[in-house]
Amino acid sequence: MTIYLDNAATSFPKPESVYQALDQLARTSLANPGRAGHKMALAAERTLDDCRHLLNQFFHGKDPERWIFTLNGTDALNMAFKGILNDGAHVVTTDLEHNSVSRPLRALELAGRISLTRVHADGSGTVDPDAVRSAIQPGTRLIAVTHASNVLGTVQPVAEIGRIARERDIPFLVDAAQTAGVIPIDIQSMNIDLLAFPGHKSLFGPTGTGALYVGPQAKLRPWREGGTGGDSSSETQPRELPYYLEGGTPNVLGIAGLAAGVRYVQERGLDSIHAHEMDLVERLWRYLESKSLRVFGHRDPTRRVATISFACDTLGAAELGGILDESFDIAIRPGLHCAPYIHRSLGTFPEGAVRVSPGPFNTAEDIDALTAALDEILL
Ligand SMILES: Cc1ncc(COP(=O)(O)O)c(C=O)c1O
Repeated sequence: MTIYLDNAATSFPKPESVYQALDQLARTSLANPGRAGHKMALAAERTLDDCRHLLNQFFHGKDPERWIFTLNGTDALNMAFKGILNDGAHVVTTDLEHNSVSRPLRALELAGRISLTRVHADGSGTVDPDAVRSAIQPGTRLIAVTHASNVLGTVQPVAEIGRIARERDIPFLVDAAQTAGVIPIDIQSMNIDLLAFPGHKSLFGPTGTGALYVGPQAKLRPWREGGTGGDSSSETQPRELPYYLEGGTPNVLGIAGLAAGVRYVQERGLDSIHAHEMDLVERLWRYLESKSLRVFGHRDPTRRVATISFACDTLGAAELGGILDESFDIAIRPGLHCAPYIHRSLGTFPEGAVRVSPGPFNTAEDIDALTAALDEILL
């Protein structure tokens, strides 16, 4: 049985209730939603509505209709960038970002459509809100920041940055891929206008799920247009949220699983999940430190999530990852983790580092199996 320590990529296993929800929906009401449809279509529509209500309550959004279901985190982020940015806009972002933020922004910059300022994180992987403030220009139309680095696990001061964004009346986007389901997020008190995340990581939905929250301050054009199951007579996309942004048949099955995943997190509690994961991180950190391996990011459990990266001077990350997989059946993630800018600033580009990301179903024994394997590999 694989020891799975790659939850920052996607969570595995899912809670039992998620498997049950998927099975039940697939067998009873996996119809195409439609507000004017038959009973099964209405049941499918209800599945989506229930999940929108749940997300809105969990993340303290303004209205359930403001939750747009997406394919994954990348889709949510692209929907936000392509929907909100006009030619000539300036965007402030950071060097901690995942490629799903960096690449769409860089492509728009290379096309001469926007300008970009990338604020650097400090040596331990945290962005200073004052540096964000200093990067703002008269033409700044968006501040886009990750809530936690997917390489270092460091949690960013989004409430402070949100305050700055609101003072300047600039829309604020948070990529919560690594925090949704482990760190409390209050959209309204943190002044977040756009919140993007995958459903398949710490919220325990299946792959193929994600969401974008669109606040009243964020005016988005639809990135894709098409059928909505609603007003078919209109020649263009109906203006009403969520349908304005949600063209096409949604992933009803995945969303049923996502709702069960969110309920699991609510029942187990964010604090208890985070505390469990931090115990595992600390256990691993103590070992890595004892072996003088280079560990990145800061150790303070109140300011991090369970993603821990390290480098070994005698063996490359890819090789180490390959041996752990092939010889020990331990799944970790070597490489650049789709975040090349932060690896450049850590000095680990292009080889990357070894990333270990335990989840709520991992145990101390899993970490001990990893450290025993590292003992054998590194002698
Ligand atoms: C910080 C961060 N943002 C965005 C994403 C993209 O999410 P997805 O893979 O669901 O598109 C990831 C995924 O690893 C991530 O870690």
